[in-house]
Amino acid sequence: MTSNSFRYSKSMIVIHWLTALLVLGAWLTAEGGRKVIENPPLLHFTLGLAVLVLIVPRLILRLSGAAPDTSAQRGWLATAAKAGHGLLYLLLIGLPITGWYAASRMGVTVYFLGLQLPALTAPVQGPPGLIADLHENAGTFILILAGLHALMAVWHQLVLRDGTLQRMSLR
Ligand code: HEM
Ligand code: HEM
Repeated sequence: MTSNSFRYSKSMIVIHWLTALLVLGAWLTAEGGRKVIENPPLLHFTLGLAVLVLIVPRLILRLSGAAPDTSAQRGWLATAAKAGHGLLYLLLIGLPITGWYAASRMGVTVYFLGLQLPALTAPVQGPPGLIADLHENAGTFILILAGLHALMAVWHQLVLRDGTLQRMSLR
């Protein structure tokens, strides 16, 4: 494992790009309303839960020094980057859990790779509720935030020329 070097470690890089693909896949396979109860989007559940699973090694790696040391970086840009990354992490954890909760409340059984997961709450008749609304809106918000994040990465690379994209690339 690399420590405090310029780049993220290989495993962090693989997890970053895999997570980005999974989030996009979860967004593309999302469904709302009655459709979810009549024909549960199992692919959406699986891709979304894989995001949650990957957070575990990612945080362990991060805490054990597999990310570049940015503690010396100062200024509003560095603060904005830290806040943005923090918010992305929060969404990567919160989205799958709120989705799982929403499915349970709608009375839909959640499966992950063939394994039946326990319900996070008792089923309730009627509208899916506040957590489900939160999940739907956050599900689109993460894509907008990730888009901004990608634009910032490209801006760093092309305008500031500080090699930010290299930190997250395998070559
Ligand atoms: C859903 C999509 C994405 C998510 C959730 C995401 C999330 C994150 C997070 C949380 C970090 C902080 C790294 C860490 O400390 O673990 C990060 C870093 C980074 N991401 Fe993304 N990312 C996404 C897509 C993209 C895309 C499309 C690009 C480029 C076009 C990109 C480029 C980068 C770069 C270059 C870094 C390193 C930034 C630095 O060290 O200053 N990401 N990403
Ligand atoms: C990164 C992961 C995820 C993203 C980006 C995401 C995104 C979304 C979006 C955008 C919607 C709204 C779809 C629409 O109204 O047309 C939605 C709905 C839903 N998602 Fe997710 N989701 C994720 C993970 C999950 C997981 C892991 C589960 C369950 C285990 C789940 C369960 C649901 C349910 C039940 C709905 C329907 C809610 C309703 O009709 O009120 N999602 N998701």
